[in-house]
Amino acid sequence: MPLLLWIEAAASLLKPSFLLASVGPHNISHECGRRRKKKKNMVRGNQKRNRQKYTGSKQQDKKEMMAAGDTGVYSCQGGHPQKQQDRLSAREIRASKKPELSSCERDTDSMSTSGKVIKCKAAVAWEPKKPFSIEEVEVAPPKAHEVRIKILATGICRSDDHVMSGALTVPFPIILGHEAAGIVESVGEGVTCVKPGDKVIPLFVPQCGECSSCVSSKGNLCTTNDLGAVRGLMKDGTTRFTCKGKQIHQFISTSTFTEYTVVHETAVVKIDAVAPPEKICLIGCGFSTGYGAALNTAKVECGSTCAVFGLGGVGLSVVMGCKAAGASRIIGVDINKDKFAKAKELGATECINPQDFTKPIEDVLMELTGGNGVDYSFEVIGRTDTMIAALASCHMNYGTSVIVGVPPSASQITYNAMLLFTGRTWKGSIFGGWKSKDSVPKLVADYMGKKFNLDALITHTLPFDKINEGFELLRAGKSIRTVLVF
Ligand SMILES: NC(=O)c1ccc[n+]([C@@H]2O[C@H](COP(=O)([O-])OP(=O)(O)OC[C@H]3O[C@@H](n4cnc5c(N)ncnc54)[C@H](O)[C@@H]3O)[C@@H](O)[C@H]2O)c1
Ligand SMILES: [Zn+2]
Ligand SMILES: [Zn+2]
Repeated sequence: MPLLLWIEAAASLLKPSFLLASVGPHNISHECGRRRKKKKNMVRGNQKRNRQKYTGSKQQDKKEMMAAGDTGVYSCQGGHPQKQQDRLSAREIRASKKPELSSCERDTDSMSTSGKVIKCKAAVAWEPKKPFSIEEVEVAPPKAHEVRIKILATGICRSDDHVMSGALTVPFPIILGHEAAGIVESVGEGVTCVKPGDKVIPLFVPQCGECSSCVSSKGNLCTTNDLGAVRGLMKDGTTRFTCKGKQIHQFISTSTFTEYTVVHETAVVKIDAVAPPEKICLIGCGFSTGYGAALNTAKVECGSTCAVFGLGGVGLSVVMGCKAAGASRIIGVDINKDKFAKAKELGATECINPQDFTKPIEDVLMELTGGNGVDYSFEVIGRTDTMIAALASCHMNYGTSVIVGVPPSASQITYNAMLLFTGRTWKGSIFGGWKSKDSVPKLVADYMGKKFNLDALITHTLPFDKINEGFELLRAGKSIRTVLVF
């Protein structure tokens, strides 16, 4: 039976109690808003144990998993914790269903390629502002603590296009892409967290389990990340890609516009073997980033008023997060009115186009909210002017504004300091504040449990070779997410 049909058939057999139980204890719905479990200090336990936890196969203590990777409670409706018995029966049901793999998943034969250089297709970006070039590249075997992955599906995110437009500075030539799902082809020495054949999501924010951010319950941006000043190299200062005799750089710990990639073991996590790669690849970036910005970073409350600037794949995921948190008013802001219908379908209560007004959009939002401003605003575009407008749109005293859009490299912001002096909070959010290794498998489980809908975000699915067409759709404002399949 094809994978999708199998999932549909399996889902139809499941009672609502199973769907709730299957996602485990971390996101059980309680009183209005989210039940915010008390974050336990991750510093407890020593770093050695953390290393084992994030790179080794040792089963993670359930309490710690809840503290570290709580995916929040997204429903504003009441609910009850499921009994342990329910969870066991859910596991049993899952275990009894043998995952059926798609043809590309079955093709992964690590025995024949392990330890060897793999020649495969990749979209090489030789320089900015030029189309991607589909090339044959050589992918070296994984070194110690590295994992080689066969990519099954990868989404196109605006961050990749920021590189192509020159807004985000990276070393060229480079293989971009960071929102994907795949199958482990082989692992280097010392890797125990995944094995060949595991279905995985690469993590553009790694989780080493040892650095200051990883051991703190307050942060998620592992200091081993390659964001900010992108080096485009593995930890040892080399890359695993070559093409026409040249070293090709890697992108933010991932590089997924290629049939095979190599990542560090801290930048990959095993997920449910039956999860559909062409959907859950969005959990690798766009969906999780937006959804988490509302739930984890802003901590939107029931009854809040929110404004979301930018209604692309990430902005729409913010809308979904605000709705799940119980926001009573969600105002979408975009200069492309074609985005409004989908925004309303996903939870926006109204949408406005700044180009329809002569006054600044922050003044429009103040008026729309009786002069108060919104409780929470989100900039999900990547422009400094809209970052300031979003800040000025929130309540002058207790409003919170979250920067999600990636600003152009080395950009500076000048703003009226009074905006902050009166009490507003201005925050940034990377990967939605999720601790990646802890949270991604749970988000996948939540998708499988129908807690949220990724399908609405995917407007186009194209063969990998049509990557340039996928980017044109994004630039023309015609797509939300295009997923490339191999
Ligand atoms: N923080 C993170 O971890 C993270 C992760 C992924 C993406 N991002 C960033 O988030 C941003 C959004 O990503 P996306 O993939 O949804 O992009 P997208 O291009 O699909 O969406 C951006 C939206 O903003 C709108 N827009 C453009 N200029 C505008 C303006 N002046 N006023 C109002 N709306 C405007 C566009 O019409 C579009 O609908 C990008 O900057 C991306 O790099 C950040
Ligand atoms: Zn992204
Ligand atoms: Zn870390």
